[in-house]
Amino acid sequence: MTLVSAATQTKLPLTEALSRIKRNSTLFNGRFPNSGSGLHYTLNDNVNWLAAFWPGMLWLAAAYSNDPIYRQTAVSLLPSFHNRLNKQIHITHDLGFLYTLSARAQWQLTGDEAARQLALRAAGELARRFREPGQYIQAWKAVGDPEEGGRIIADTMMNLPLLFWAGAQTGNGRYHEIARRHARTSRQYLIRPDGSSFHTFFFDQKTGRPLAGRTHQGYSDDSLWARGQAWLIYGFALAAQWCAEPAFLAAARQTAVTFLAELPEDKIPPWDLRLPPGELPYRDSSAAAIAACGLLRLAQLDDDPALYAQGEALVEALINCCWETNPDGEGLLKHGALHVPKGWATDEYLIVGDYFFLEALLTLENKTPDFWGPAGKE
Ligand code: GLY
Repeated sequence: MTLVSAATQTKLPLTEALSRIKRNSTLFNGRFPNSGSGLHYTLNDNVNWLAAFWPGMLWLAAAYSNDPIYRQTAVSLLPSFHNRLNKQIHITHDLGFLYTLSARAQWQLTGDEAARQLALRAAGELARRFREPGQYIQAWKAVGDPEEGGRIIADTMMNLPLLFWAGAQTGNGRYHEIARRHARTSRQYLIRPDGSSFHTFFFDQKTGRPLAGRTHQGYSDDSLWARGQAWLIYGFALAAQWCAEPAFLAAARQTAVTFLAELPEDKIPPWDLRLPPGELPYRDSSAAAIAACGLLRLAQLDDDPALYAQGEALVEALINCCWETNPDGEGLLKHGALHVPKGWATDEYLIVGDYFFLEALLTLENKTPDFWGPAGKE
């Protein structure tokens, strides 16, 4: 069902966001924004997990606006995604993010068959990361890597939609089955009994024996990395949409309830929701933006207006606390934390936060194309 915004009193800054994206289309000049401060984004080549959030924003804008600049800019970026797969540049589980918001989005909005084929190739590559003994998709490094071969991470839940979509497109049930099995393994081992989560979990990669939960981007193994929890909320809501498996819906709800219960009063999470007092008090607006999209999706799937209102409240909190009010700013949201333990972009714009904030704004307007769920032309 479709729930519509009722409670939001705050004006959604959609027009301002679109004009900023339009200006950035020229400024970024074929390169990829990752994080930024002092009103500017730092630009990179297409070499890391963040690369597709910029084309994803352009495709969201293209679906909403008749201005051709968004579509033209997004299309001009796709060759770098072909190149990246051909040259195997930093290929990890993040193939899902990378090729959903570039190639699948382009196919979905333009019917471009070459883009569809590229997304399917990426899905094939992602499926090859599945490890039978432990029934999971290996997150990082080459398949079978001695140190990383046994690790799953929460973030992978948001990479599964590429596999579900590829299964629906090709009729090859293996894609769906791999995604479903990975989701089952993640539910069993990443989610703790209280609804919080480990960022990562290790298995013996030869036997599949479960070993232990470990953090990577959180404060400690038993703390609660906020963006990881947000990936689980949205990822399980999507798995539930593709699989109609009640345990996935329950996992989305359980992680959502815990996320919401541990938020501070202003609703913008610290980068880790279980920080000892006084420790590195950075916030992560991107976690709130991802969680908002997850809550809005889950509320619509489960026909739950109260949960929908919680998603709206997160968007309002982002507008009130994190929206870049300086019209010269290139970013939409301030106060993102990319990787606090490594000291990377601890209080900056993050393109991943900007993408999900824009998706949330469009969802509240009932105007978002759905790049994560079924496209309606499978
Ligand atoms: N997927 C990487 C991150 O969320 O930082």
